[in-house]
Amino acid sequence: MKIKITLFCSFFMFTVLFSQIPPSGEGLKGSKKYDQFEKPEACKSCHTHIYQQWRQAMMSQSYTHHWDEIEYFDLAVPHAEKVPGLKEPVDGCNGCHTPLAYMAGDVTPPRPSANSRANEGVSCDVCHTISGWAGDVPHNFSYISSPGRRKYGAKPGLVSPHHDTEALPLYEQTEYCGNCHNEKNPYGIWVKSTQIEWKEGPYAREDVPCQRCHMPKAWGKNATMAKEDMVAQHLFHGAHDAGKIAGTIELRIHPEEHEIPYDGTAHLQIQLFNAKTGHKFPTGSVEDRIVWLHVTATDANGKEYHLAVDKKGFSGEEYTIASDALGYQDMGIPKGIANFKGVQRDGVPVGDRIFRMPYFDAEGNITIMQWNTKTLGVDYRIGPRETKIETFTWPLPEDIAPGRVVVTAQLNYQKLVKPVADFLGVPEEESEIIPVNSASTYFEVYE
Ligand code: HEC
Ligand code: HEC
Ligand code: HEC
Ligand code: HEC
Ligand code: HEC
Repeated sequence: MKIKITLFCSFFMFTVLFSQIPPSGEGLKGSKKYDQFEKPEACKSCHTHIYQQWRQAMMSQSYTHHWDEIEYFDLAVPHAEKVPGLKEPVDGCNGCHTPLAYMAGDVTPPRPSANSRANEGVSCDVCHTISGWAGDVPHNFSYISSPGRRKYGAKPGLVSPHHDTEALPLYEQTEYCGNCHNEKNPYGIWVKSTQIEWKEGPYAREDVPCQRCHMPKAWGKNATMAKEDMVAQHLFHGAHDAGKIAGTIELRIHPEEHEIPYDGTAHLQIQLFNAKTGHKFPTGSVEDRIVWLHVTATDANGKEYHLAVDKKGFSGEEYTIASDALGYQDMGIPKGIANFKGVQRDGVPVGDRIFRMPYFDAEGNITIMQWNTKTLGVDYRIGPRETKIETFTWPLPEDIAPGRVVVTAQLNYQKLVKPVADFLGVPEEESEIIPVNSASTYFEVYE
């Protein structure tokens, strides 16, 4: 009897304690209703500029964007239909990409063409009703959501006719962003770690949070009836903004000697300095993204030669030098293609240096299916304020013309490796070549 009472009491205590912890992460699923959240259009009349900025940003397209729709509906959902253990993590895509649908328990949500409220993506009311987060490291939609009349922000004492306001220090902290910009997959692998990268880097030590670079402040009004002040611009510009990518890395190139005999060898060195990002470059969807260095030399007759980068000899280096190897065989599972041979791993000129971190599936093949990633390969990305050096050793070709040879280094960026984009039918803009920077030098060839 005594045991029974004790058991009952601890069960009761447990339920009381547990019910007081607001849900976050997977606990959010089905914990709310769509109509507890206001539509972005309800904010537009007063917060006009912020609304229009958000409309342009990827935040408003996090569910409707073509590549998101293709990856979710053509790869992730069919994969989870074949491997039941994947249902929970694949539902979890929505915890970051369409938080309203996830919290309303509307998973799998309707396709974007159905025009449902899932299309609102990361909306004003998703972000401004976040009242905290739970756990040790923010990740996997670990935010706590408290929808209602109160909108949280960073500024104390603001008055609005439409809602109450409350300032929380969280809105100026990187943990706020880390809730969705760090992600651990079903294998326990960090498949997205932008906030963790930031925390380990120089900008954390100098207290420059994400907001300083992605929501920069400018003088103006944050609402039509507000007083002028410094206002956080809702730009969230990143990989989808060619201007944000441009100049991220500064380049310099020089030869060891400016005069080289026609039967000699040119030795060139390139410095790549990451002047702009607060995290590694590339970051975020690292499974998709590549940055590569293409070096060419043009002799006095205008003949162009392609130079291959020198090997450094570190382990896993083969994934950082472009080759015509195949990869991404695991796409065959959701696509229902037996013994799928894969598509080209890199799709950029063979011999170019690639700055990336490859993701591998359980079979050891490179993958873009982050939920299917069992291990990570060598991390050869460029860290915040890091400088990497690449060298090129070029025995001059027999037919080179005497006179000036101009050597040009071009650094490019691609959001999604092209062979994968083409295979899946992702619109061209997702695999377009975005120039990051370039530099050139010269040497003279004498007889
Ligand atoms: C009728 C006009 C109106 C509407 C509609 C409106 N707001 Fe506001 N909001 C204001 C005003 C006014 C302020 C205070 C501005 C100031 O004094 O700087 C404000 C302030 C805010 C702040 C800043 C809070 C802080 O403490 O930093 C947030 C966040 C906010 N609104 C979110 C929203 C969201 C989200 C919506 C739509 C669901 C919305 N607002 C709809 C007028 C409005
Ligand atoms: C990804 C989350 C996110 C989204 C989406 C978002 N905001 Fe914000 N908003 C923030 C954060 C964080 C701040 C505080 C930034 C700071 O002060 O550094 C902020 C600040 C504000 C402010 C105060 C600006 C100032 O500095 O005076 C207003 C008003 C506001 N948001 C309204 C909106 C409206 C309206 C929308 C939708 C059109 C929206 N926000 C979408 C995260 C978000
Ligand atoms: C509720 C989840 C959530 C929160 C909170 C959030 N983000 Fe995002 N963010 C996303 C998603 C999802 C995308 C991807 C949109 C897409 O599908 O391309 C994104 C996209 C972005 C992009 C654009 C990247 C690109 O590829 O162009 C930037 C920049 C960004 N977020 C910065 C921030 C910053 C800074 C904060 C904190 C102030 C923040 N985010 C908070 C979910 C979130
Ligand atoms: C010092 C400025 C700076 C800081 C601080 C910063 N970023 Fe960035 N971020 C950039 C620049 C520049 C780019 C464009 C180059 C790139 O894609 O990495 C970028 C790109 C991004 C992208 C798109 C990356 C991709 O390749 O898809 C995301 C997402 C992002 N940042 C989120 C964040 C988050 C979250 C934080 C805070 C934890 C943060 N950033 C801190 C400058 C910054
Ligand atoms: C923890 C939050 C989170 C989860 C869970 C998540 N994502 Fe994302 N996803 C993001 C963020 C943030 C970005 C933007 C990063 C960047 O720009 O580099 C992103 C980017 C993407 C992109 C690239 C968008 C582009 O245009 O380049 C695709 C596609 C995508 N996610 C699909 C998925 C799928 C499918 C799942 C589930 C298997 C998933 N995501 C789970 C947060 C998340």
